[in-house]
Amino acid sequence: MSRPAPKSFHVKSFGCQMNVYDGARMAELMQAEGMVEASADEADLVLLNTCHIREKAAEKVYSDIGRLAKREGGKPMIAVAGCVAQAEGAEIPRRAKAVDLVVGPQAYHRLPGLIADAVAGRKAVDTDMPAISKFDALPGRRSVTPSAFLTVQEGCDKFCTYCVVPYTRGAEVSRPWVAVMDEARALVEGGAREITLLGQNVNAWTSEDQKGCPQGLDGLIRALDKLPGLRRIRYTTSHPNDMADGLIAAHGEVASLMPFLHLPVQSGSDRILKAMNRAHDVASYLRLIDRVRAVRPDIAVSGDYIVGFPGETDAEFEETLSVVREVGHASAFTFKYSPRPGTPAATMDGQIAPELMDERLQRLQALIGEQQLAFNRATVGRTCEILIERKGKLPGQMLGKSPWLQSVLIDGGEIGDLVEVEIVAAGPQSMHGERPQRAAA
Ligand code: SAH
Ligand code: SF4
Ligand code: F3S
Repeated sequence: MSRPAPKSFHVKSFGCQMNVYDGARMAELMQAEGMVEASADEADLVLLNTCHIREKAAEKVYSDIGRLAKREGGKPMIAVAGCVAQAEGAEIPRRAKAVDLVVGPQAYHRLPGLIADAVAGRKAVDTDMPAISKFDALPGRRSVTPSAFLTVQEGCDKFCTYCVVPYTRGAEVSRPWVAVMDEARALVEGGAREITLLGQNVNAWTSEDQKGCPQGLDGLIRALDKLPGLRRIRYTTSHPNDMADGLIAAHGEVASLMPFLHLPVQSGSDRILKAMNRAHDVASYLRLIDRVRAVRPDIAVSGDYIVGFPGETDAEFEETLSVVREVGHASAFTFKYSPRPGTPAATMDGQIAPELMDERLQRLQALIGEQQLAFNRATVGRTCEILIERKGKLPGQMLGKSPWLQSVLIDGGEIGDLVEVEIVAAGPQSMHGERPQRAAA
C-alpha cells in the first residue's frame, strides 16, 4: 500500500557525538531532497538515530517507537538509523511493526531511496557497509553551528571484549586529507569558529596530505590551525595506544588546540584491563597523562570508566578509585558494565550483581564529582575566552564554553561570539563569568 511522500522530518539522536554528526548529515540530506525540519509531534517522518553501546540505550528506541506509533494526529513514517539499526537490522521491523525503514551508519547516503521504498509500501532495510564511502555521496554542509563536529575517522579494530562498536561501525577507516580539509573550510565559511574532530578512535586517523606525505592527527591539527577564521580545535575520542608523540607535542605547540583531553582508561586494574583486551596497562596510561601535562600543565583530563566488568573484585575496583585519584579529572564518564550480545565478555564467568555495580558506580561518581568541582573552583579568578553557543535559562543570559570545555554563563553577547571573561563563580556543572573590568585610562 503506498502512502504520501513525507514533506517534513525530525531527527532524534542518541549516543555519542558521532551520532550527533550523522544526525546532522542525514538532516542535510533530507533538506536537499526538499523536506523541511519539524518537531517530533508534527513531522511526517521521524528518524531515530540509535545507540547500541549499553542495553538501556538500545532498549530506549523501542519505547520511542511505541510512543510514535500512537502519536496524536497519526503515526509518522518511522525510520531507525544508527548502531541499533546496524546490530539488529531486519529484526527491528519484525519486533516493532510500526517501523518503516532501517538504515545503518555506513549506508545513510541511500536514505532518499529507502524513503521512496517506504512510500511505496515496502519495508526498507539497508545495513550494508558499502566500499564507496557515504561521505562522497552526501550533499555539502549546510547547517553550521559556531562549534561544529567533523567526523574524520570511523570504526574500530580494537575489539575490547565488552564493546559492540567494532560490530556496529565496522573496521577503522580514515577519511582522506583533502575531504577533511574541504569540509573544514566549508564549516568555517558557514560560521564555525570551533571544530571538534570526531572518531571512535580519532587519534588513529592517518592519511596522506596533498604532497603525498603521510600524516597523523597532529599533522591534520597543525594544518587546520592555519585555516583563517578557525579559532579552536578539539578532538574526541582518543585511545591510549594511539597517543603518538607528535600529538602530545601538539598540545604544547598549537595555540588553537584546546586544553582538553578525553582519554579513557576504563579500569585501574591491570588484570581487568587484560580481560578487557585494552592492550595498555595502568602505568602506561599514567605516563601518557604526565607527558601531556608536561607540555600543557593546565590541560583538563577526562576519561571513561566501567565498573562491574565480569570478575571485578572489591580490590580491583579500589584500584580504579586509586587511578582516578592519581589522575585528578576535570570530568569523566562512568558506566555500569552492560553485557552486549555477541561480545566475549557477555559470556565470561563472574558477572557482577546489579546492586554491587550500583554501589561501585555511586562511589566512583562521588569521587569524580568532587574532582570536577575542585577543577572548576581552581579556574575561578582566571580570565579566558568563551565561545557563545546558545542562550542560558535566564533572560539575557548566554552560555559559552571555556577552553577547558566548562559551560560558562554570562550576561549578554551573541551566539558565535568569542568573548573574554573572568570566571567569577564555580558550580559542579557550570560556571559564571563576567566581562573583565578594564581600568579607566
Ligand atoms: N573508542 C572509545 C570509546 C567508545 S564507547 C574508547 O575506547 O575509548 C564509549 C564508552 O562506553 C567506552 O569508553 C566505555 O567506557 C563505555 N562502554 C562501551 N561498552 C560498554 C559496555 N558494554 N558496558 C558499559 N560501558 C561500555
Ligand atoms: Fe569499543 Fe574498545 Fe573500540 Fe573503544 S577501543 S570503540 S571501547 S572496542
Ligand atoms: Fe553508541 Fe554507536 Fe556511538 S553504539 S556510542 S552510537 S558508535
